This record gives sequence, structure tokens and C-alpha cells, in this order.
Amino acid sequence: MPDVPPAAAFLDKPSPRRLFVSMTNHGQPPADDAQPAHDDADLGASQSNATGDDDTHVDPNDVAHPRRIRSFVRRAGRSSEAQKRAFDVLGPQFLLPYAPEPLDWPAAFARADAPRILEIGFGMGDGTAYIAKLRPADDFLGVEVHEPGVGALLKRIGETPLSNVRIIAHDAVEVVQHMLPEGSLDGVHVFFPDPWHKKRHHKRRLLQPPFVALLASRLKPGGYLHCATDWQEYAEQMLEVLGGEPTLENTADGYAPRPDYRPVTKFENRGLRLGHGVWDLVFRKRA
Ligand SMILES: C[S@@+](CC[C@H](N)C(=O)[O-])C[C@H]1O[C@@H](n2cnc3c(N)ncnc32)[C@H](O)[C@@H]1O
Repeated sequence: MPDVPPAAAFLDKPSPRRLFVSMTNHGQPPADDAQPAHDDADLGASQSNATGDDDTHVDPNDVAHPRRIRSFVRRAGRSSEAQKRAFDVLGPQFLLPYAPEPLDWPAAFARADAPRILEIGFGMGDGTAYIAKLRPADDFLGVEVHEPGVGALLKRIGETPLSNVRIIAHDAVEVVQHMLPEGSLDGVHVFFPDPWHKKRHHKRRLLQPPFVALLASRLKPGGYLHCATDWQEYAEQMLEVLGGEPTLENTADGYAPRPDYRPVTKFENRGLRLGHGVWDLVFRKRA
């Protein structure tokens, strides 16, 4: 286990898995969507999953009391015993509770001066762990709502071991809004966000102008926003939305070459073998 001071002070309950109680629509499904039909193994690049494109479950309460449209739905999929163990053993050190107040980053990471990188929707956390190991001088805050994924990354943190990763198991939109102050981040990673293939679901896509503006406001001048997708039409949308955010500038002429630190996932590899494309976008906050 990595040598890191316990983050137990951040926990409000003895069982870290309870941190999930607040994370997904207070336990209710969203208004117009159903459970995406894939299991944990499908959490990688989106060509290999059909996230959020089923239409089998509508909660009448959601119609009567509409809530903000979210970029995720609560997916089926249980944590393995090893993932549950990781929650119990490593959760107190590495899981931070969601709270609508600024995160005390130096206390959470037990150091003050490291560059601060936010990753939204890390899935099973393979890429997160890879990058955190490659860049030990940087701090990584991973935000993910999928419980087995959180357990999987905790497990990796213990196995690797890693001391520069913390996790918040909550809607990243609220985390960015309420926990991360303006100009506080050096980088943001959004790798293979759910593409929400169907047109009527496009409103659920994470990377839309208001959220991109919010993300950009959290970056320091010179900080970067790195997105990747394997869904061409979403890539085009990203290019348009990021390009339309006045506080950001593109580091490339259109799509960027894949930065070396982003590993090629097995799903991406499979897609590439099948001839599918992958598009990286790297923008910087203007000074
Ligand atoms: C298609 S998966 C990609 C996972 C990973 N980045 C990868 O490249 O394999 C998208 C992930 O984003 C997560 N997600 C979607 N919206 C989110 C949100 N608002 N807050 C936190 N996680 C979110 C989903 O739970 C899912 O695990």
C-alpha cells in the first residue's frame, strides 16, 4: 500500500462504499433514459459499447420533477469482491467525499505544490493509473460515478502503488461547479466520454458549451484540456465546442496527435484494428 496519510478526515461514514449514496440522482434513474447495455468490461472506448442508447425505463417522478440532464445513467454491474475489498481497505485513504464546498487540495493530496489534473469519467481507471505512475510529480483527481470502476481504480492504487491519485465518486459536473475553484487546475482529461449516439440523447453529452466554459474557468492560464473520442461525430462536436470557447486555444491545427502519456486502451486497439478512428483534442487556457 502506498505511504500516504489517511484521508479519513474527509470521510463521513465508516464504509467508503456509502459515498455512492449521493452520487446518482439520489438513487433514481434519469428522466428519459435507461440503463446502458454493457458490462464493466465494456467501459473503454465507445465504439465497443452502446452507452445510454436503450429506452426501457422511464421514472414518472422524473417527469413530474425534472432535474438537470445528466451525462450518465446508473449502470448495471456489481463490484467484484476484490473491488469491494479495495473500497474498505483503500477507500479511507483515497476516496474523498463529495461536498458542495471548495476542496482542500493540499490536505487531500498531502502536498501543496504539485500540478493538479482532473480526470472526468475514468471508467475502470486503467488509463488513470498508467498516467499517474508515469507522472508522479502531478496530482490526479479522478471523478467517476460507476462504483465498480471506482473499486477497480482503488485496487490499482494499492497494487501499483500510487500516492498521487484521489477519487470522488460523484457527478463531475457538480464536483467542478462546487469543489474546484476558478483557475485552480493545471489540466483536465476527458477520455472517451459517453458518446450518446442517438440524436435525442445528444443533450446528455458532457462536452457542450456551458460545461466547457465551466471547465475552462477552472483551468489556470496555460492549463490544458485534453479530450479523446472514437466517435467521429462527437469529435467534430468537441472541435466545434472547444474551438468556440473564447478562453481556450487549440494547440494543434484541428485534432492533435495523441500525447505520449495517454495510453492506447485495449478497446481502442481493437477499434483501430477494425479501422475505426480515434481523435485527440488538446486545448490550452489563454493567458
Ligand atoms: C465510455 S466510459 C470511458 C471510460 C474511460 N475514460 C476510458 O477511456 O475507458 C465514460 C465514463 O464516464 C463516466 N461518466 C459519465 N458522465 C459522468 C459524470 N458526469 N461524472 C462522472 N463520471 C461520468 C461514466 O460512468 C463512464 O464510466
